[in-house]
Parts: sequence; structure tokens; C-alpha cells
Amino acid sequence: MTLFTLRWGIISTGWIAEQVVSDLLVDPTTRGTNDVVHKVTAVGSRSVAKAQKFIDDFVNGDKTVKAYGTYDEVYADKNVDAIYIGTPHTYHYTNALDALKAKKHVLCEKPVTCNAAELRSLIATAKENGVFFMEALWTRFQPLAKEVKELIDSGTLGLPVVVHADFSVDFGIEKLPLTHRMLDPKLGGGAILDLGPYPLIWTILALYEHPANKRTKPSNVTGTMYKTPITGVDCNTSYIVTFSPNSSTGSTLAAQAVLSCSMNVASHNPGVTIRFEKGTIMIDAPVPCPLRYTVQYFQEGKPGEIAREDTRTFEYVGSGWHFQADEVARCVRDGKLESELWSHDKSILEMEVFDEVRRQGGYKFPDGIEKVLL
Ligand SMILES: NC(=O)c1ccc[n+]([C@@H]2O[C@H](COP(=O)([O-])OP(=O)(O)OC[C@H]3O[C@@H](n4cnc5c(N)ncnc54)[C@H](OP(=O)(O)O)[C@@H]3O)[C@@H](O)[C@H]2O)c1
Repeated sequence: MTLFTLRWGIISTGWIAEQVVSDLLVDPTTRGTNDVVHKVTAVGSRSVAKAQKFIDDFVNGDKTVKAYGTYDEVYADKNVDAIYIGTPHTYHYTNALDALKAKKHVLCEKPVTCNAAELRSLIATAKENGVFFMEALWTRFQPLAKEVKELIDSGTLGLPVVVHADFSVDFGIEKLPLTHRMLDPKLGGGAILDLGPYPLIWTILALYEHPANKRTKPSNVTGTMYKTPITGVDCNTSYIVTFSPNSSTGSTLAAQAVLSCSMNVASHNPGVTIRFEKGTIMIDAPVPCPLRYTVQYFQEGKPGEIAREDTRTFEYVGSGWHFQADEVARCVRDGKLESELWSHDKSILEMEVFDEVRRQGGYKFPDGIEKVLL
């Protein structure tokens, strides 16, 4: 098999860019990947000195990697095939738009945009320019998530009925500067956009993607927020996503997800519980990159009485961001404009849920932050 090399241009030099680039440099064969490999060819920052320091610290000081003091120079670089965007949420739309118009493939951090309207605009631009575009929902590509998905689809546990999922991080918000991206409304601060994608990704995997659901959107979304008096962004958010049988799509799934995210308390275990007719799947925290899950099988005809319990653990070199990069490389190699695993419709569903939860929770971004409105 020919080895395909994807050449990456990195946009921004913050925390997540450090993690993702470190994973791009991990030898792919350590995770059983033998068909694609990654090469960082350019790094763009608002400061060329920062870009160079990032290359020195995270790309082994590789002299062949270009350091740029603007993002536009990365989009224009002929030695870059795909752009990775790691800026704060409220910059994703503009950064991705510029990259797509330059005909670069794009992997954009979660939440992919501030709202569903911005996302629809980006998807249209990607299609017009014939390039690949995906939200960096890395969880969906990890081996544990793929195995859980296979178990769900096998039907051994019957149909899913209720999902409980939480993702919380104690950011110590009282001590953060008001300009920190978690607190600043101008940067899309708050729990829902930053942490909310993770409880939702497990819901999308278990319920939206379930064969019985026929890709039917939720029949109802409700949300409630506690907003911190520090800056008014959401600190604790709970949201319920309901899927109902639907004769026009053929869906026979009746299931509900009870989800939450907080930025002032740590996560707890299990981070995700998926309750089925014939058993339960419990996934350990942290839910963005879990390494262990347990399945309880109920006794035949005795719901709730546990006949058997299996625990599965996973390990790999790196931190788990490289699996999504392998997917991007394979899609680009194969001329695909979207990934089947985290396809455009799943990101749209995610952003529509967040729009609705923010509407019900009364969280409006400052004027001008959302670049495209409904
Ligand atoms: N997938 C995950 O697990 C994960 C984890 C954490 C965060 N994220 C996502 O990644 C994004 C960035 O998070 P982060 O924690 O890496 O943030 P961060 O450490 O603050 O880094 C953001 C970077 O964006 C650039 N930037 C451009 N305009 C900026 C502005 N006005 N203010 C601040 N920075 C600006 C800066 O790089 P330059 O100065 O070099 O241009 C900065 O270093 C967020 O959307 C977040 O949701 C994802």
C-alpha cells in the first residue's frame, strides 16, 4: 500500500494546537495506522516569534517548517494541503472561511462555529471549493468509541432508552482573567460551547446514529443555564435531547438524553451511562477521551438484574487527537469532502442543539460576534 502524506498548516499556537501537533508527530504505526502519515509544514500565529517558538518547542525545531506571523500566509502556502484551526470559538468561522476560499482542506476545533447558520455557510463554501471540511470532534474516531458503536449496532443490548452524560472541568473561574476564553462572551465563553460537545457526541453516537433512528433529528430539545455573575456566560448548563418515532422518516427509536456540563466542578464517574432494554454501557471520565468502559448484561427476561459484566480498557501512544487526523488524511486521499464518521449533518445537529439551549437559557453573544445569523 502506498503511504499517503498529509501536509498540515497549523493556525494558532495555544494549548490545543500544542496537543494536536504533538499527536501528529507520533509514529502512526504505534496505533496500527500504516496507510497515512502526517507532516507539519507551516505554523501561523498573530506573531512570527510565537510561531517560531511553537516550531522549536512542538515540531522538534524542524527547520523545514515555515513560521508565519499571519494566518493568511499559511492559507497561501503551496506546501500546505490541510489547515488545522485551534483559535477560540468566535474566530473559527472567519478562519475556516478564509482557508476554504484558499482551497485548503480544513479540520476546525470544536465547537466548529458559534451557531448553525455559520456552519451551514462554511459547509456551502467547502462544497463550492471542492475541499474537505470537518469539525475536530476527536472522540468519535477513538478506538473505544468505535467499539462501543459496534456493540450498540449489534443489537445485543436491545434498543437504547436513556443516555446520561456529563462533561465538567473546574477552571477555577474566580481566579481567571475576565479576558480568558472561558469567561469572555466575546470569545464565546461558557460551558455549553466548550464542554457541551462531549455529552452530545455520545448522544449522537448512541441515539442519532442508531440504525432505528434513520438519522431523524430530535423531536425536542430543552435547556436551562446558570450564568455566572462574573461575566454572564453559562457556568452550569443542563439539556435534554429527545428522539421520538417518526412515520415520515421511518424512525422507530424512542429515547432521551439527559446531559450536563459545568465549568466550576470536576467530572465524575461514569461520565456516560447508556441504558438499554437489556443492559447498560458505562463509560469512564474523561468523556472526550475515555480509556475504559463497562457493559452490564441483564438476565434474560429480568431487566435490571445483572447476569454478566465486561470491562474493556484501551491504551495507545499519544493523547488521542491523532485518530481524527488519520481520518482527515484518508478522506483527502480518497477525494471525500466529508467524513462518514463525523459528517456535516452531525455537526449541524450539534450546533442546532446549542442554538436552542442558548435561546432557552437566555445566553446571547454580544452584537457582531455571530458572523452569520439565521
Ligand atoms: N479538542 C479538544 O479537546 C479541545 C481542548 C481544548 C480546547 N479546544 C478548543 O480549541 C480552541 C482553542 O482553545 P485553547 O484552549 O487552545 O485556547 P488558547 O490556549 O487560548 O489558544 C487560542 C489561540 O488562538 C489564537 N488567537 C487568535 N485570536 C485570539 C484572541 N483574540 N484571543 C486569544 N487567542 C487568540 C492564539 O494563538 P496565536 O497568538 O498564535 O495566533 C491563541 O494562542 C477552542 O475553540 C476550544 O473549544 C479543544
